Amino acid sequence: MDPKTMVLVILMFVFGIGVEGGGGLRYNFYENSCPQLENIVRAGLLPIFLTDPTLPASLLRLMFHDCQVQGCDASILVDPVEDRNLTSEMATEKNFGIRRREIISMLKTMVEAACPKQVSCADILVLAAREAVAISGGPQIKIPLGRRDSSVPPSYELADALIPPATAGVDNMLHIFTSKGMTTKESVAIMGAHTLGVTHCLNILKRLYDHEGDKDQGMEPRFEAFLKLNCPKGSLTSNSSFVLNDPTTLIFDNQYYMNAMEGRGLLRIDAEMVMNTQTARIMERFATDQDAFFRAFSTAFVKLSTSGVLIEDQGVIRKSCNVID
Ligand code: HEM
Ligand SMILES: *[C@@H]1O[C@H](CO)[C@@H](O)[C@H](O)[C@H]1NC(C)=O
Ligand SMILES: *[C@@H]1O[C@H](CO)[C@@H](O)[C@H](O)[C@H]1NC(C)=O
Repeated sequence: MDPKTMVLVILMFVFGIGVEGGGGLRYNFYENSCPQLENIVRAGLLPIFLTDPTLPASLLRLMFHDCQVQGCDASILVDPVEDRNLTSEMATEKNFGIRRREIISMLKTMVEAACPKQVSCADILVLAAREAVAISGGPQIKIPLGRRDSSVPPSYELADALIPPATAGVDNMLHIFTSKGMTTKESVAIMGAHTLGVTHCLNILKRLYDHEGDKDQGMEPRFEAFLKLNCPKGSLTSNSSFVLNDPTTLIFDNQYYMNAMEGRGLLRIDAEMVMNTQTARIMERFATDQDAFFRAFSTAFVKLSTSGVLIEDQGVIRKSCNVID
């Protein structure tokens, strides 16, 4: 081995860059230890989805907010414990609207029954998000597995610092995703997750009534009137009332991009991507080419869900997803 290759191999070792990619994760990770895993997750979600079609949105956002704080390690699932002075990532207002965390615990129980002590909550969470996309009409995404769960107490401070605020703009967004190895195109594609789900009025009140330079974002006047009607200023119910992220909120499609192009972007980031020179052409492309969106979303999803994760002897496989023992 020549010295240059030697240095490269040592660097790859030090930084944990495996030949499989995804830093030591593998597509066939549970091939022997839990071959039924993906079927269990899919079959477990189906009946819940049939009674609550908003489930996919909740799982997809849950994945982002878990992975955004020190990699996907199921830290968002850990409940606070008063007498141990243990906080929860859920305590930050950035996690307002995060729901259905208990679904992952339910899936974990089903997985434990079939393959005890083999599968991390972190992998189950990412698999659930992957199913969420597929079940609502989006792409079928293959994801590498082998993540481990965090074993240290969750940090409210880290969650508060790392999850973007509802007022985030394009530069902030690109910084977050390009630092996970995404291209600009993939960064715009991962935001297409906003094709699902809802936004509570609380999160758009600033944009609607307290413009702070947000005024010239080209919001279509009838859309603005509609939002103001549904989210009145000073309302006591802003924490419970919500508007749809796009008109086909239960379907994973490229409607989000079409909407944004028409001045119907709901959050600042949704609207600003149409105006920003780095992202505008990509928005246009995804609005007219759903396959291009699906392809870029799929690779972006893998990057988001593999970046900075715990592997091998790092972390643990928790017994219960909501408890660190
Ligand atoms: C800069 C980036 C982002 C910002 C500022 C942002 C902000 C938000 C906000 C404020 C909401 C409304 C929450 C509520 O009021 O209940 C929301 C909802 C949502 N976000 Fe994002 N988001 C970002 C990126 C992402 C990414 C990368 C994903 C997934 C891959 C995602 C998936 C979702 C989903 C599915 C919902 C709907 C949740 C539900 O219906 O329960 N978001 N986002
Ligand atoms: C809990 O932790 C916080 C922050 O570290 C500290 O200020 C507080 O005194 C602690 N409370 C108890 C009961 O240990
Ligand atoms: C609404 O949610 C925000 C953010 O979590 C919280 O600070 C506030 O107290 C809530 N307001 C009401 C009326 O529940």
